[in-house]
Amino acid sequence: MSAWRHPAAKADASINFDFVKSVAQKAEQGKFDFLFVADGLYINEKSIPHFLNRFEPITLLSTLAAVTRHIGLVGTLSTSYSEPFNVARQFASLDHLSGGRAGWNVVTSPLEGSAKNFSRAAHPEHALRYRIADEYLQVVKGLWDSWEAGAFVRDQASGRFFDPAKLHPLHHHGDFFQVEGPLNIERTPQGRPIIFQAGASHDGKQLAARHADAIFTHQHTLEDAQAFYQDVKSRLEAYGRRPEHLQVFQGVSVIVGSDAADVERQYQATAALVSIENALNYLGRYFEHHDFSQYPLDAPFPDIGDLGQNSFRSTTDEIKRNARERGLTLRQVALEAATPRPLFHGTPQQVADGLQHWFEQHATDGFIINGGTPDTFPRFVDQVVPLLQARGLFRREYPGETLRASLGLPEPANQFAANNNKQ
Ligand SMILES: Cc1cc2nc3c(=O)[nH]c(=O)nc-3n(C[C@H](O)[C@H](O)[C@H](O)COP(=O)(O)O)c2cc1C
Repeated sequence: MSAWRHPAAKADASINFDFVKSVAQKAEQGKFDFLFVADGLYINEKSIPHFLNRFEPITLLSTLAAVTRHIGLVGTLSTSYSEPFNVARQFASLDHLSGGRAGWNVVTSPLEGSAKNFSRAAHPEHALRYRIADEYLQVVKGLWDSWEAGAFVRDQASGRFFDPAKLHPLHHHGDFFQVEGPLNIERTPQGRPIIFQAGASHDGKQLAARHADAIFTHQHTLEDAQAFYQDVKSRLEAYGRRPEHLQVFQGVSVIVGSDAADVERQYQATAALVSIENALNYLGRYFEHHDFSQYPLDAPFPDIGDLGQNSFRSTTDEIKRNARERGLTLRQVALEAATPRPLFHGTPQQVADGLQHWFEQHATDGFIINGGTPDTFPRFVDQVVPLLQARGLFRREYPGETLRASLGLPEPANQFAANNNKQ
């Protein structure tokens, strides 16, 4: 949140395409599955600096598609403040433009203020947002199946442009959406783009179990991560799916150093930039931009009732539980939220050991590596990835052309095709 003040940082990184391009290309050099772009739809003066000024994900990823070749391009888009037809079309286009590398991080938008930017009287409440998201995903998937593979025959001699038997208008009439279809773009290289979900409440996990190919989460301990992993995987059978068809990705921050003193120096170099006011604002954003400066800093974390239930529910529940169980003060909670000590830190070997342990103990299928200091990510690619490769835990080459191939996910069937073939 204050990383832009680090002496080595590019202070305009969030709006600097050359910087983003260099990160994407570095990740591709490291044979990463994908680059993940988060997003939000409401800011105010207290928002994190790089949220105040940043690219719209689909636009950014479309441009990155032209300067990368293998890495998956995953962007966040909200089901509460967009239309399924537009979104189906945007991600289908990105999948074509990138040669099968598009992924959509489905979010329901936690920030109440978002309603004010979309001419809405109120932000839909948590359960309603997930009901909308469920129908929304049915519509988008239906639109992506509008055309079977090979529907566009483009026979110049006969003048036959498409095969009508392979065209499937949607005719969707539901509680929230009325969508006739078909979508005006052909079936995509991946069959359909990859669906990510980031939400860890009961409703969020159900949505992922039913619709998603991958789930983005962050747990603070191995035990919590294992429990989450078990929990989401066990929900798939009810939807006729196999556990490996929903992959779990833990978002983790890392510090790679030459020794413990170097790691501590790197941690302090960013943590020292965060004032307690910054930290209170950061914490407040999870709770609908609640003003925590009104409470005594060194008293126990205040009782704020149900605040947070309608925004980042799973995260705010966790913050409250942690504060209660460990008897933390407001200052401690704010600083832990804003300047957490990276779970995986140490020498390249120690970081690789930690990641290996979580993977082998069934805490996750993969990791999403967060920033840190400006040289954290290049160090990770140059020093940790080769160790993981040498241990046989990570690829040396991309297995195919698409994000689906990188993730080892099966081709989706077209739900409308007569023989429901695997295209
Ligand atoms: C790891 C993680 C990443 C998230 N990323 C985003 C994001 O980029 N944009 C967004 O609007 N919401 C994001 N969210 C919020 C969720 O989509 C969801 O709205 C929120 O967590 C409340 O749902 P839940 O109680 O099911 O977790 C994220 C949540 C988690 C847990």
